[in-house]
Amino acid sequence: MRLLVCGGAGFIGSHFVRQRVREHGDTVVVLDKLTYAGRRENLQDLEGEPKFAFKQGAIEDPAAVDGALALLGAADGIVNFAAETHVDRSIAAPDAFVQTNVVGTYTLLEAARERQLRYLQVSTDEVYGSIPTGSFTEDSPLRPSSPYSATKAGADLLVQSYFRTFGLETVVCRGSNNYGPYQYPEKLIPLMILNGLHGDLLPVYGDGLQVRNWLYVEDFARAIGIAFERGRPGEVYNVGGPDEVTNIELVKRIVALTGASEEQIEHVRDRPGHDRRYSLSSERIKGLGWRPTVTLEEGLARTVAWYKANGWWWEPIRSGAYRAYFEQQYGRPLRTG
Ligand code: NAD
Ligand code: TYD
Repeated sequence: MRLLVCGGAGFIGSHFVRQRVREHGDTVVVLDKLTYAGRRENLQDLEGEPKFAFKQGAIEDPAAVDGALALLGAADGIVNFAAETHVDRSIAAPDAFVQTNVVGTYTLLEAARERQLRYLQVSTDEVYGSIPTGSFTEDSPLRPSSPYSATKAGADLLVQSYFRTFGLETVVCRGSNNYGPYQYPEKLIPLMILNGLHGDLLPVYGDGLQVRNWLYVEDFARAIGIAFERGRPGEVYNVGGPDEVTNIELVKRIVALTGASEEQIEHVRDRPGHDRRYSLSSERIKGLGWRPTVTLEEGLARTVAWYKANGWWWEPIRSGAYRAYFEQQYGRPLRTG
């Protein structure tokens, strides 16, 4: 296949691009704005590969989207990962979330409609809001809590409207919390791993009894490939991980794996509008033949080993703009020594 992958220099997108080029022989053009979260380093092993090209640009810029599609030539479709993705940043400054997540998705949909391209939108379980027991199905109502999840819900619904109104072949994948190599350390798991390794603060929001359903990034990337190839037009697919756990239990497991001390754990001010629990029923995507293959125990061990072995990847982040972000968010400086 020949794919335009937007946001392919980010965490999940880079795993997807690597799988498609290396395991499926697809030709991929990545369009990515390279925000703080997007890095060419995430794809550096594909540089020089004839089936891969990179174009820097924003998805809300129609000229950049046209330029990327022109690079690709006859395209089979667009897969959109590009988004502002961190809930805490969406609380501090929602504007970029509306621009990228809503206006950007609209811009891509127009480009797909003009050319009648198949379109896959990477969405999130956060569009449903919190669920105390049981699991959300694809028919559950959307009740997003944060500016992040509200803009993702807006984008998700806009995509579905292009199927119903214009007959565009769309597919939506709503994933649960991902983790694995190349995840920016603002997110819970890499933040705790790197701070654990540095003897630094392990900040748990509120009581730490919030529950997340963890999905290893390579399993999510595979689900997206399957949904793109075999998903029914107009359909939504939930993609949940195999294990759910409270945040505090997860942080204690990371403490053990990194050789940190539980004394580094501090309960800090809770996130406003914090969803208590996410849980997805993934029966529909299982009907397409997908299964999660990596347990949380195995995935966490792999992820800690990757961060330990790849200081070249995170050292520039931890000594760059991330320091100011951390200090602003947690009210104290990051330890780098
Ligand atoms: P990420 O923050 O690591 O990467 C986002 C990428 O999008 C970066 O490369 C960034 O440069 C790029 N980008 C941002 N704004 C852009 C713009 N205006 N134009 C072009 N590129 C832009 O995010 P991620 O964790 O890899 O998430 C990817 C997608 O998956 C997002 O749509 C997110 O909502 C969704 N998702 C994430 C998770 C998770 O746990 N991380 C779970 C479910 C769904
Ligand atoms: P996060 O990785 O931001 O993902 P999301 O908000 O999309 O679920 O957070 C995962 C969980 O961890 C969430 O319940 C918030 C919590 N959390 C902390 O307790 N401390 C932190 O420093 C961070 C970043 C998250």
